[in-house]
Amino acid sequence: MSEKKVGVAVAGLGFVGGRAHVPAFKKIPGAELVAVIDVIEELAQKVATKYNVAYYLDHKEALKNPEIDAIVVAVPTPFHYKLAFDAIASNKHVLCEMPLTANIAESIVLGKLAEKAGLVFMPNLNFRFTPNYVKTKELIEQGVIGKPLAITFREFIPAKELATQWPRDSWAWNKEKSGGYPDFTLSVWSIDLVRWLLNSEIENVHWMTNYAQLEEIENFTGYQTMGIIKLSNGVVGTLHYSATVALGQGTSKLEVFGSNTKTLTAKWNNFLMLTGEDSEKQEWNFTEKGTKVWGHFQADSYFIECILTEKKPMITVDDAIKAQNVASKIVS
Ligand SMILES: NC(=O)c1ccc[n+]([C@@H]2O[C@H](COP(=O)([O-])OP(=O)(O)OC[C@H]3O[C@@H](n4cnc5c(N)ncnc54)[C@H](O)[C@@H]3O)[C@@H](O)[C@H]2O)c1
Repeated sequence: MSEKKVGVAVAGLGFVGGRAHVPAFKKIPGAELVAVIDVIEELAQKVATKYNVAYYLDHKEALKNPEIDAIVVAVPTPFHYKLAFDAIASNKHVLCEMPLTANIAESIVLGKLAEKAGLVFMPNLNFRFTPNYVKTKELIEQGVIGKPLAITFREFIPAKELATQWPRDSWAWNKEKSGGYPDFTLSVWSIDLVRWLLNSEIENVHWMTNYAQLEEIENFTGYQTMGIIKLSNGVVGTLHYSATVALGQGTSKLEVFGSNTKTLTAKWNNFLMLTGEDSEKQEWNFTEKGTKVWGHFQADSYFIECILTEKKPMITVDDAIKAQNVASKIVS
């Protein structure tokens, strides 16, 4: 007899749904990708053909399919609430992209509904699964830097890249519908990462922003957004998000400074370094490929594991809300 698999449908086949979740679920042993959903028929049909699954243009039609046990909500943030609400009402588990909803009250409603129905409702905070961040957490917990004292995180996205994905007239710039501008949206994973790595809450944040028209880039606003934070365990830190740099200059860097003078530095998604006195240095290079690079495959696998083993995910609605509350203080 074959083992029970979780039937999955991915709703929203854009940047994250089409390029990360669909290929990931196709390869997860406990999951069966049953269908894809997008309002753009040409796109839905193309992805469905490539992965040999059914497609739907209306999520409500997909929810009638008894082979679908779980829905991945990867549509633009303004539609998360509607799709997640309908999915829970149809007794489907939900993996929901971040930010969960523009309005925190709606996230609370979804969390309560899923809990009452006994369904898994997991925010996709995939940085908790990115290989070099997983190693960073392991080393911090082993005490290799003593007690963490300070943390810095910065992420630079090439302006032209973001201008193509989320031009100024797209949903990502509608504060009312999306909760904030792209700096808000794109900060939530790393804000959660800081909380998770240090096992502590961000108690205080002070943001400064500089939004500017960039030369030769139409229908877009560049941003340099910086925050100073203090966590409840005393750790201080900085967060820096930007979308003004040139193509090819996209990068991210995380540093954690410890009480034994050692520092952990994670660069992009594939490198981690521990430095001590003078030339004392240890390096890790991560070679994961495809949807494993940023932890999407691992997050999606964990979601399936939670459904199959009936366990509550370690990532909760409360985590999503805490990250969004810090991000929502960005003055835009
Ligand atoms: N986890 C990550 O790494 C990550 C990265 C970027 C974005 N995101 C989040 O993922 C979500 C989607 O972002 P994106 O950049 O992929 O967006 P996108 O605009 O690239 O793609 C969204 C897709 O959803 C489709 N769509 C819109 N309304 C729909 C509906 N009602 N039903 C079905 N399909 C619908 C669109 O046609 C489009 O194909 C956002 O909430 C965003 O914040 C997550």
